[in-house]
Amino acid sequence: MERPAGPAGRRRTFAIISHPDAGKTTLTEKLLLFGGAIQLAGAVRGKRDRATRSDWMNIERERGISVVTSVMTFEVDGTVFNLLDTPGHEDFSEDTYRTLTAVDSAVMVIDAAKGIEARTRKLFEVCRLRDIPILTFINKMDRESREPFELLDEIEKTLALDTAAMTWPIGRGRDFVGTYDIARRQVRLIDSSGEAVKVSGPDDPAIDGMAKPGAVAAFREEIELVEGVAKPFELDGFLEGHLTPVYFGSALRNFGVRDLIDALDAFAPSPRPQAAEGRTVEPTEDKMSGFVFKIQANMDPNHRDRIAFLRVCSGRLERGMKAKLVRTGKPIPLNAPQFFFAQDRHIADEAFAGDVVGIPNHGTLRIGDTLTDGEDLVFRGVPSFAPEILRRVRLGDAMKAKKLKEALQQMAEEGVVQIFTPHDGSPALVGVVGALQLDVLKERLKAEYGLPVDFEPARFTVARWVTSDDPVKFEEFVERHRSQMASDLDGAPVFLAPSAFELRYDLDRWPQITASDIKDYQ
Ligand code: G4P
Repeated sequence: MERPAGPAGRRRTFAIISHPDAGKTTLTEKLLLFGGAIQLAGAVRGKRDRATRSDWMNIERERGISVVTSVMTFEVDGTVFNLLDTPGHEDFSEDTYRTLTAVDSAVMVIDAAKGIEARTRKLFEVCRLRDIPILTFINKMDRESREPFELLDEIEKTLALDTAAMTWPIGRGRDFVGTYDIARRQVRLIDSSGEAVKVSGPDDPAIDGMAKPGAVAAFREEIELVEGVAKPFELDGFLEGHLTPVYFGSALRNFGVRDLIDALDAFAPSPRPQAAEGRTVEPTEDKMSGFVFKIQANMDPNHRDRIAFLRVCSGRLERGMKAKLVRTGKPIPLNAPQFFFAQDRHIADEAFAGDVVGIPNHGTLRIGDTLTDGEDLVFRGVPSFAPEILRRVRLGDAMKAKKLKEALQQMAEEGVVQIFTPHDGSPALVGVVGALQLDVLKERLKAEYGLPVDFEPARFTVARWVTSDDPVKFEEFVERHRSQMASDLDGAPVFLAPSAFELRYDLDRWPQITASDIKDYQ
């Protein structure tokens, strides 16, 4: 594959997408161990204290830990892997989606006993929207699993994604001994040092000694079928997002992880060109550019420090440089950009296309912001998703209304919630994609701003961004629906409806109006 010369070509920036419990944390840990980024298994474990919705301590812990696990960088044989973590909670899905805008590929982890599960499918759809190439890791092969053919078939049918088996399991469950690498004709055994054994092919007698006779016979039959009828791996199909190479393994037993790293190294794209308004930015361009896809508040409630996560898209980010924040035109000194390793943050001296750096700031940076030291650019595509829950915020102490407004503004800039300001002057509504976000908002308003609040149902349950190619009609629409119009954080017009039915009913009568449940930050 042609890769850009220099540091950009050596980078692979990816995320893991999976349903809870499929083994993402375990696999992450093994990848990091492999890369020597962590010495101790268990370093990413904290994340697994799953919070129940009302258990703030756990939310807090998770938030704290996720600062350092948001980006994990490790290096194997000269290739720099940036693994961007997607939050574990279903409820944090908005953050997850935004993270997927900052990766160039994704690893889809599937539990071999369960196949494609709901969240995997949802995340997959986001990847597909962005044509993100996907590698598949079928995990937990050391346990009772479904038949591999059945799993491949399910991927093809439910995701409309072609599969190319790259390895094939020998034995199942307790009798699972390892995998056969189809292209390289080699066997990797689970109970070995991980070194692969070269064989002449699936019929090599050496394989007979590796597993129970029944397992070997079944393997040979299957592999004949795989080699005979299955689609071969084809790089272009993968890069375009139509085909996924499939690997079998066991994260828990640290098996199959090397295959995955090799595959990311060989096939996964290097930093891809990024679409900005007006033109596409190549990773090899000299001038530094990047966009903010995530904001994380610091844990210390006494400081309003935030870390903005910047995905570098081109050039070289150098410590001490002044970048321009395009939205305001103001310079931002990058005095202490941070790199993230498994447990640690380090001050970064330099970063390149594909890297993610944390930029401490006091609220200057917002999600979707572009930083550059070249011409003014605006990257497209850090999306906002229409909230699934809309609420009014009820404040006990009316004297603090102004403070609440400021606090909500800050929370919205961090992406914790969205706020919608109705045009008719009624109080702002907050919108979230998942209910846990409301708990987080409530706790943070109390802890960080001293504002005890409650939420009450709003008159509206649906919000959509509206646009039109016909300014006159648009004006008319807004005029007619004055009591249902609001502005989001950036002032974009939002149409509010009491129910999905009423939304459709209304919009059917206004064909010139386009309503969207996704908005790209600009
Ligand atoms: P997640 O981040 O995707 O939610 O999954 P996580 O890695 O936390 O794994 C979920 C459970 O599945 C854990 O068990 C983990 O040990 C187990 N697991 C992960 N990979 C494999 C595998 O390859 N084989 C087998 N047999 N199990 C695997 P748990 O019981 O929830 O936790 P623990 O008691 O093992 O710590």
